[in-house]
Amino acid sequence: MLKRTHHCGQLRLADAGKSVVVAGWVQSYRDHGNLVFFDLRDREGLTQLVFDPEASPEAHQLARTVRCEWVIAASGKVRPRGQGLENPKLATGQIEVVVERLEILNMAKTPPFELDSATKTNEETRLTYRYIDLRRPEMQQRLRVRHRVTSLARRYFDEKGFWEIETPMLAKSTPEGARDFLVPSRLVRNAFYALPQSPQLFKQILMISGVDKYFQIVRCFRDEDPRADRQAEFTQIDVEMSFVDVDDVIAIHSELVARIWKEILGVEVALPIRRMSYSEAMADYGIDRPDVRFDMKLKDISDLARQTTFRVFTSCIENGGVVKGLCAPSGDFYSRSDIEKTLTSLVTDFGAKGLTWLKVKMENGSPTFIGGIGKFFSEDLGRQLVRRFDARDGDVLMFVADQEAVANKALAPLRCRIARDLKLYDPKSFAFLWVVDFPLFEWNAEEKRYDSLHHPFTAPVPEDLGKLETDPAHIRSQAYDIVVNGSEVGGGSIRIHRPEVQQKVFDLLNISRKQAEDRFGFFLKALDYGAPPHGGIAFGLDRLTMLLTGTENIRDVIAFPKTQRGQCLMTDAPSEVDQKQLDELNLRTQKHLHAVEKPAES
Ligand code: AMO
Ligand code: AMP
Repeated sequence: MLKRTHHCGQLRLADAGKSVVVAGWVQSYRDHGNLVFFDLRDREGLTQLVFDPEASPEAHQLARTVRCEWVIAASGKVRPRGQGLENPKLATGQIEVVVERLEILNMAKTPPFELDSATKTNEETRLTYRYIDLRRPEMQQRLRVRHRVTSLARRYFDEKGFWEIETPMLAKSTPEGARDFLVPSRLVRNAFYALPQSPQLFKQILMISGVDKYFQIVRCFRDEDPRADRQAEFTQIDVEMSFVDVDDVIAIHSELVARIWKEILGVEVALPIRRMSYSEAMADYGIDRPDVRFDMKLKDISDLARQTTFRVFTSCIENGGVVKGLCAPSGDFYSRSDIEKTLTSLVTDFGAKGLTWLKVKMENGSPTFIGGIGKFFSEDLGRQLVRRFDARDGDVLMFVADQEAVANKALAPLRCRIARDLKLYDPKSFAFLWVVDFPLFEWNAEEKRYDSLHHPFTAPVPEDLGKLETDPAHIRSQAYDIVVNGSEVGGGSIRIHRPEVQQKVFDLLNISRKQAEDRFGFFLKALDYGAPPHGGIAFGLDRLTMLLTGTENIRDVIAFPKTQRGQCLMTDAPSEVDQKQLDELNLRTQKHLHAVEKPAES
């Protein structure tokens, strides 16, 4: 067998004259009768092979039998391409390899889709034949970037004195708020492990164990419905540190982010990364992970809306709601029907009852309004409205009237949609942000109790500790999220390290002593044995890689991802198992129960 000496994708003009052996897959072939050309592909790229009967009649003969995606090895000489025959689009476009010997290592069936047109192929086919999809240069590049991020992170944390420590996959459920994946135990009858939603409690216990600085690149499992940026099985770069405060954690992870962007994209991240409070983010952007590549802030106009004659506004405010909106610098971009159909259905999908709008027309410095609800604003109110948004001639103001949470939920995606439509930012740019000062709790009206905004181990801001008894809704937490282009790529907090504070928090969350004992008694016990002050963070590796490779589909950055229904189309998981396996686990499925019931019925 020919032994490979070079990656074909790495050959350059400087290699001209060298004898090489290359190997890979035949991307395409062109048979010109006297000459046969292959584009040979390996991980590093494509190179043109030339089969010339003058150079080797045997190789030329054999080449004519080869088809797409066959695996071959070829030896030959690198030579510059003839004048005018260079391909500037190809890194190897200056050269070609004149083949002396060809070896067919394997044949291949005709692939279910052509690699070149894979993006037009439906994703189901691509996922079923993932090994073919992954051969595409774009996908290989994504795998490579992901590898470079993990390898860089390992080097970074090692340099800074962190130890990589594994924590169990067969674990007891930790409360990150999602549904657990359960694994039945064979040896302990009727008992279950939970796959970890994150290593949260283990990493805190490692701090109690004196490890001081821990990290892990770790799989986490949450049985939620997948979304464009969410998989049930995903990877975190997980970190915990002792004797630190918020500033320490933010500083070390800002530097990590800067290093990743610099090494992988050559992009300088200006340090320190800007911080924004949760309340500012919610007020100005309607969301706790604002995309700050563009401005277009939301404004509350309830004070003006109250004075109009528009019933939708006035009655909403009477009912404790708000009127909030934004100013789209749109000129004539949106037609009336764009706003009343497309944009309105976007906000109603997010729970709003509608979208009202008006277009600003400036005449001799005073505004008039066209369309929508202009007629409900007096001249004076109209002027105040325009000033509030700093609106110009041709701008379109759009409003949602509702409870504040609903208005925010609808306006935040509207803002992003408009910015994208109007090209208000460079899609290749990045905007980094730490969101801080989250509230510790949020009121759960349905269950009539507080919920943790992050998780129940997050420490309150020390000055706010006094409010634990008196005013829990206004306690700020020592939590932080890092947001890039509107994507939450990481989040963490300083933790509670004092048992009595932890107990108070459980009380407010309505977690009874018995429940706390059952679910994380082991952790409360550990806190009693000298827990250092500590805190940490977890980055979503998949989301980082999405940003670095410019894709909005999380499945693009995972080698073997799952579909919307949580299925792996390549292996056909999840699937039924043998009765014997179930018996050993002392499990009965519904199907089994029905099968048992049926004979009894007949
Ligand atoms: P959190 O739940 O915020 O925190 O998760 C941390 C980061 O993980 C990513 N992420 C996900 N990525 C893809 N699919 C998912 N289903 C998914 N869920 C989360 C996000 C998120 O910012 N233990 C805490 C961290 C800590 O407090 O140290 C935790 O898991 O990018
Ligand atoms: P309607 O009175 O339902 O016909 O609505 C009149 C206009 O007001 C339509 O353009 C609706 O989209 C809009 N609208 C209705 N309810 C709201 C609301 N709560 N907030 C903003 N716009 C609304």
